[in-house]
Amino acid sequence: MSKKAKIAVLVSGGGTNLQALINAQKKGIIESGEIKLVISNNSTAYALQRAKKADIDTAVVLKKDCSSQLDFEEKIISKLKEYNIDLIVLAGFMSILSETFTSRYSNRIINVHPSLIPSFCGKGFYGLKVHEAALEKGVKVTGATVHFVNEIPDGGEIILQKAVYIKDDDTPETLQKRVMRLAEWKILPAAVEQVSKNLIS
Ligand code: GAR
Repeated sequence: MSKKAKIAVLVSGGGTNLQALINAQKKGIIESGEIKLVISNNSTAYALQRAKKADIDTAVVLKKDCSSQLDFEEKIISKLKEYNIDLIVLAGFMSILSETFTSRYSNRIINVHPSLIPSFCGKGFYGLKVHEAALEKGVKVTGATVHFVNEIPDGGEIILQKAVYIKDDDTPETLQKRVMRLAEWKILPAAVEQVSKNLIS
């Protein structure tokens, strides 16, 4: 393997976590890996603009252009192969990958999730819905988790977690922003560096 792990970031939306990774790479917080490719399953994702601004190659793979989940994943895999990707980072990627995909990249896919797993995770818990559920339950502490991805949604080994206190006047939106700022944007780059370092050593 080369001196730096080649990283692909999979996105679907705004891409603030992608931006955190780009910034961390510039600052040298990520030094054992390099983002080579950003893949989106949404052609209007703002994350694509962030990648282009940082001079990172992009690819768009749309489910509607694919005959099946397998076909969708094969198109993603062919891009990953083209760039010899070592590590796949799911950063707000809103599509569940099948076991065929996850077993192929065992211990080489990581995901950021906006809660303290095992709370508020699994199928149906994504984006703002996670924070709505946390407020609904009345928990006083939430946070974010970075974990390896396996065939169980949000079920893979936990790499890093960070807790965030909930305020009495939080809305799902204010909570989402605080969890991103205080937890996700910190632990995702740290986990990417940790896993990249292990991959190249
Ligand atoms: C982030 O909060 C991320 O943790 C969450 O979606 C948001 C994407 O924001 N991911 C999930 O809920 C996955 N289950 P971003 O596009 O600005 O990074």
